[in-house]
Amino acid sequence: MSQTIHPFLSEIAEEVKRGGISRRDFFKYAVICGLSVSAAGKLIGLTGPEIAVAASSIDWKGLELESPFEIKNLLIQKAEEACAKSGCSILNAGRGNPNFLNTEVRKSFALLTLFAAELAQQGSTVKDLGYRQGKSGMAAALQEFLKKHHGDPGEAFLEQAISYALSKVAMDADEIIFQLVDGIQADFYPDPPRIFPVTEQIVRKYLDRVVFSGAPPQGDFHLFATEGATAAMIYIFNSLKENMILNPGDKVAIVTPIFSPYLELPVLKDYGLETVYIRGSEEMDWQVPDSEVAKLKDPRIKALYMVNPTNPTSVSLNADTVKRMAKTIRIHNPDMVIISDTVYASFVDEFNTFGKELPENILGVYSYSKYFGVTGWRLGVVMVHEDCVINRLIKKLPKAKQAQLDLRYRLISTKPGDIPFHERLEMDSRQVALAHTGGISGPQQVAMCLFSLYELTDDDYVYKKSIMDILKKRWTALYTALAMPEPQGKNLTRYYALIDLKKLAAKMYGPAFSEQLTASHSLEFLFKLAENHHTVCLPGEGFAGPNWSLRVALANIDEKNCRDVGLAIVAVMKEYKQSMPA
Ligand SMILES: Cc1ncc(COP(=O)(O)O)c(C=O)c1O
Repeated sequence: MSQTIHPFLSEIAEEVKRGGISRRDFFKYAVICGLSVSAAGKLIGLTGPEIAVAASSIDWKGLELESPFEIKNLLIQKAEEACAKSGCSILNAGRGNPNFLNTEVRKSFALLTLFAAELAQQGSTVKDLGYRQGKSGMAAALQEFLKKHHGDPGEAFLEQAISYALSKVAMDADEIIFQLVDGIQADFYPDPPRIFPVTEQIVRKYLDRVVFSGAPPQGDFHLFATEGATAAMIYIFNSLKENMILNPGDKVAIVTPIFSPYLELPVLKDYGLETVYIRGSEEMDWQVPDSEVAKLKDPRIKALYMVNPTNPTSVSLNADTVKRMAKTIRIHNPDMVIISDTVYASFVDEFNTFGKELPENILGVYSYSKYFGVTGWRLGVVMVHEDCVINRLIKKLPKAKQAQLDLRYRLISTKPGDIPFHERLEMDSRQVALAHTGGISGPQQVAMCLFSLYELTDDDYVYKKSIMDILKKRWTALYTALAMPEPQGKNLTRYYALIDLKKLAAKMYGPAFSEQLTASHSLEFLFKLAENHHTVCLPGEGFAGPNWSLRVALANIDEKNCRDVGLAIVAVMKEYKQSMPA
């Protein structure tokens, strides 16, 4: 690693001496910037023995893994300082939260809430107080209400959504409406806690469309509603550990580049797993070459972890890659658990899921966060096949281990050994003892139903086209400003762009300049972007991407801002060129 010290680090070192920043944070930043322990220690005035103590007490490997989101705060601070002087505002292209959101479902949610509240007041003579109503006649009451509110905001979609649900959900009309109304009312604990039956059926139909492109594999999938995809991941790793499917020292293969927290999660002390990177190839437009697929033959690899379509490249695995990987798993490692985050599946025209190839191996995770602009709602779901391989693996555990597990789950059932994995997931999410309070709230589940129904009733994909059009314009604006060819393809989300700075440098000023540039530390480039152009991007390296790359998040900034990010990157490149000897 280069020992070049960016002036910003020297500034932070002064701040540490004044007590404004902790030593630990300083070492963290230093590691991210590629500084050795001794160089960092000297900067803050530590003596040799003090540096030795710091070196032995700090988890350097762990700090390196912390990088991209930690560095973001530092870059924001730098950009804000620059803006405070010049009066500009910072351009934050580091955030993955979309700035678009679905409005129609929100209106219909409000109308359904009104219906539920008015219904509860029936028969009550007490001010502002209602009672839980029985289900009989509830479907007809809702129809009456919708007639009365004809033309009100959200009414047209609510009517369409309800009529779709009544025709497609295999349940009595009053039962369907009762579960939705009772859910939105939320005066009872959600029951069953894993997911309401009506939510499960509706979300299944949505996932059939978005994840399986209308052609799901044989067999049923059970769902568990979670507080977004990230909570789902925690529950999955926790439950795989508790059920002795993933044990400390086991290997987990991770398809890279990937959303950086997913690099960090498996190696946490809680799990103690070893990671094996299955590296996508930039030359193959981020598909996975055979040499990397072959790593999956290792029987010590117990799980495969991926985001597809991924963050930060925006690329979805093509049919050939999915088939090659699935074939290797089927032949060499048929019990492998596949943990697949498909949060971005709604943003592509062509999506290929492992869920079709290996339905029994997949733990599929989906979130409504990005597509509908509901990150704050926390709406996610895990999908587990009825013949999930984990159920077989639990039965194959040594008797003593099965007995240990029976002790854990006997609180819930007299036949704990028969509890399937999708139920264990929910129970483990509340340490079994509090399993009856698991899952997400009723209103969250109703929101999930309405968002699903919105997509399901959009025969012409109008909403999807609008979202994709917004991102496409931003993508074009960025690449035009960079004067780089715009990546094309039906498998691109265009939610993020991973810019290869080495390639850009070579294209702008030739290979010799690119060599010269990459002799310094890539984070310096990000500092210059923040300092000189008040623009924040994240280092691609932190996502296990190429060393000299940066991630631009396009979902949170408008078209003009995307163009400005591109121009700022080009300008920093020019600054490097000017500062280098000819
Ligand atoms: C790949 C991936 N998964 C999950 C999330 C977060 O999902 P949620 O909001 O559902 O927790 C993100 C957010 O950036 C992401 O990029």
